[in-house]
Amino acid sequence: MAQQGHLEIRNVAKQFQVAGALLPVLDNVNVSVAAGEFVTIVGASGCGKSTLLRLVAGLDRDYGGTIDYDGDGIDGPSLDRGLVFQEPRLFPWLSVAQNVALGLLNADMDTAAKRRSVAEHIDLVGLSGFENAFPHQLSGGMAQRAAIARGLVNRPGLLLLDEPFGALDALTRARLQAELQRIWSHERITMVLVTHDVDEAVYLGDRVVVMAPRPGRIAETFEVGLAHPRDRSDAVLLRTRNAVLAALEATTGPDGPWSSKPQTRPAAISIPPQQAAA
Ligand SMILES: Nc1ncnc2c1ncn2[C@@H]1O[C@H](COP(=O)(O)OP(=O)(O)OP(=O)(O)O)[C@@H](O)[C@H]1O
Ligand SMILES: [Mg+2]
Repeated sequence: MAQQGHLEIRNVAKQFQVAGALLPVLDNVNVSVAAGEFVTIVGASGCGKSTLLRLVAGLDRDYGGTIDYDGDGIDGPSLDRGLVFQEPRLFPWLSVAQNVALGLLNADMDTAAKRRSVAEHIDLVGLSGFENAFPHQLSGGMAQRAAIARGLVNRPGLLLLDEPFGALDALTRARLQAELQRIWSHERITMVLVTHDVDEAVYLGDRVVVMAPRPGRIAETFEVGLAHPRDRSDAVLLRTRNAVLAALEATTGPDGPWSSKPQTRPAAISIPPQQAAA
């Protein structure tokens, strides 16, 4: 049987209608992700990364080109293609455990096995003790960790992660990156992860795809070529990181967010004394 999880994105174009005008967001996007591969995507804000993940997840079917998953066109969302959104999107009226359990709604498991799996995943993201908490009782990072647990619990063939660690502190982030890598190595889930963090992109990805903005397109792809798990200080990682940064800088210019040029900060706002005293 063919291994599950092969994604083929061909000539994808997407436009949105904004204030009566057509805004081209994606143009001629081609990405092939082998079953079990870990691909990371970096690119300037607004270049269409989330839009692309939504198309792959089947949440938006209005686009040009083709997206095939294991040889079939995508015609809607599926539990086998999980998406962890850029913001947690938990159901506010459900507890953490109930939110995570949603990922197993249609799973072929008995109740005890589901309960065990939910508890394991809550533990995995460091939320043990918060099973019965509601989303409004969590910090932003905790809510995002609950969403990651929900995305993983069903062990989809393909997991799409949209800046999943953006809201986390550096330590939790490093721990979850390592955990995600461990789960991926063990389960061989195909992963596509969007991030703004170039170190994260090269640490996790077998390949790093750099997107350019307006319209969103693939600028360059880098093979990392290192086995997992990786040593963060490996010279190959550092070299690849610098190459990815240079490619990003080329997409956004010398004044863009990835520029190696010293950044000039805006002058501090001075408040006239009479206002400051008021
Ligand atoms: N539903 C929508 N209607 C109109 N325009 C949209 C819609 N969704 C996204 N866009 C536009 O598409 C472009 C790409 O948005 P998208 O959210 O995919 O960017 P992104 O690369 O994920 O950015 P970020 O890194 O900030 O998350 C932006 O210009 C955005 O304004
Ligand atoms: Mg986005």
